[in-house]
Amino acid sequence: MSNTIEGKVVVITGASSGLGEATARLLSAQGASVALGARRVERIQSLAGELTGSGGKALAVPTDVTDVDQVQRLVDAAVKTYGRIDVMINNAGLMPQSPLERRKIDDWNQMIDVNIKGVLYGIAAVLPYMQAQQAGHIINVSSVAGHKVRAGGAVYAATKTAVRVISEGLRQEVKPYNIRTTIISPGSVATELTNSITEPDIAEIFRKSYEIAIPADSFARAVAFAMSQPEDVDVNEILFRPTRQEF
Ligand SMILES: NC(=O)c1ccc[n+]([C@@H]2O[C@H](COP(=O)([O-])OP(=O)(O)OC[C@H]3O[C@@H](n4cnc5c(N)ncnc54)[C@H](OP(=O)(O)O)[C@@H]3O)[C@@H](O)[C@H]2O)c1
Repeated sequence: MSNTIEGKVVVITGASSGLGEATARLLSAQGASVALGARRVERIQSLAGELTGSGGKALAVPTDVTDVDQVQRLVDAAVKTYGRIDVMINNAGLMPQSPLERRKIDDWNQMIDVNIKGVLYGIAAVLPYMQAQQAGHIINVSSVAGHKVRAGGAVYAATKTAVRVISEGLRQEVKPYNIRTTIISPGSVATELTNSITEPDIAEIFRKSYEIAIPADSFARAVAFAMSQPEDVDVNEILFRPTRQEF
C-alpha cells in the first residue's frame, strides 16, 4: 500500500449524502478508487457516474448495513473490481435523538443496528482481506457524542461510545497484521443527519443548534489526513468541532 491517497481502494458506507459523499468526492479527486454503499441507489449511482465522468474510478453497490451479507457484497465487489481493499470507512449512521421516557424503541433498535452492528459487519467483511494483504486501514465514524452524553441523547451516545470501544479493541487486535485503525469523531457538520430525528420538537432544537455546523469536507479532510500518513504512522483518533460549538 502506498503512503498517498492516489491508487488506494476505499469502501465507504453511507456514501449517498453528507460525510460519506464529501469523502468520496475528495478521495476520488485525489486519485483513490471508491466503492460507494448506501440504500438510496440512485444517489450513489449518480455520484459514481459523476466521479467516473471526471476521470475517477467509482463503483456503486446498493447496501443496507444492517444486512451482513449486503456489507460483504459491497466489499467483495470492491475487491473483485479493483483487486484489493486499502481502506474501509464505516460511516453509515443515523441520529433519531429523544429522551428515553418517550420510549422510541424502533429508533433505538435502528441506531443499534446501523451505528453499531453496521460497523461490526464492515469490520467483519474487510478483516480477512486485510489480514491476507498484511495491510489495510479501518476508519470508524463516532461523534462528539461518543465522548459526552447529555439528556435526550443517551442511545445515540451509547452507539457512538460503542464505536470507539470496538475501534480500540480492534486497534489492539490487528497489530500483527499491519492494519491501521482510526476513529473520527465530528461535532456538528452540515449534512442530512438531523432529518433522521423523528420527534418534531427535538428536530427543531437540533436545527437551531446546527446553525453553526461546518461543511462536510471538514470530515473528508480528516479522513485524507489519516490516510495519507506514512504506513508506520497510525492516527487512532481525530475529534473535531465547529470552532463555535460549545458541547
Ligand atoms: N453530521 C454530523 O454532525 C455528525 C456528527 C457526528 C457524527 N456523525 C456521523 O457521521 C455519519 C454520517 O452521517 P452524516 O452526518 O453524513 O448524515 P447523513 O447525510 O444523513 O448520511 C447518513 C448516511 O448513512 C446512510 N445510512 C443510513 N442508514 C443506512 C443503512 N441502514 N444502510 C446503509 N446506509 C445507511 C445514509 O444512506 P441511505 O439513507 O441512502 O442508506 C447516508 O448516506 C453517521 O454515522 C453520523 O452518526 C455525523
